[in-house]
Amino acid sequence: MGTVKIAVLVSGGGTNLQALIDAEKRGELGCGRISLVIASKPGVYALERAKNNDIASCVLARKDYDGIASYSKALADTLEENGADLVVLAGFLTIIDEQVYERFPNRIINIHPALIPSFCGKGFYGLHVHEAALEKGVKVSGATVHIVTPECDAGPIILQKAVDVMQDDTPETLQKRIMEQAEWKILPEAVRLFCDGRITVENNKVIIK
Ligand code: GRF
Repeated sequence: MGTVKIAVLVSGGGTNLQALIDAEKRGELGCGRISLVIASKPGVYALERAKNNDIASCVLARKDYDGIASYSKALADTLEENGADLVVLAGFLTIIDEQVYERFPNRIINIHPALIPSFCGKGFYGLHVHEAALEKGVKVSGATVHIVTPECDAGPIILQKAVDVMQDDTPETLQKRIMEQAEWKILPEAVRLFCDGRITVENNKVIIK
């Protein structure tokens, strides 16, 4: 398989982007190359990480568009112009509509900081996910990488990794452990599987060859 051009979409600190950058440097993304970072707002540290690693980046600020449809079209146009083969949502918090999924079918993946179908869907992002997990009193949480479909956080699951919840956890300590022990491991692993052509979707379930 030739080079798989990866576009990474970000909205914040970019620690998942950093995990992908480090994995590529270690030769762990196979033929995957991170070729573009798109931020949904200016000034986020993820853009610094791209610059520090000579990765092209741009800002598609949600506030510059009058709605989800016009934003989604601009995003899909930008991705196509840059020849993206795989789109990775890495802490990307802006809602996009079916235009993007239809133009990149089964080629968009997302990392969610919980074991889907738990603690996911509308409103479950960032610390809110871990607040809900602690409120429920689960003993295990974790992270999920899934294929993005029009329904939020509901696409076919590629990889999951469980992380123990500690008695004295706060949302912040749980988030940190899930990022370190799960997100930063399974996101690069899922990207590698995609780049190696080992992921297919049958009956809405991921088959890893
Ligand atoms: C974090 O809540 C992470 O769990 C989720 O997106 C948020 C920001 O991640 N995936 P990042 O540091 O910007 O990658």
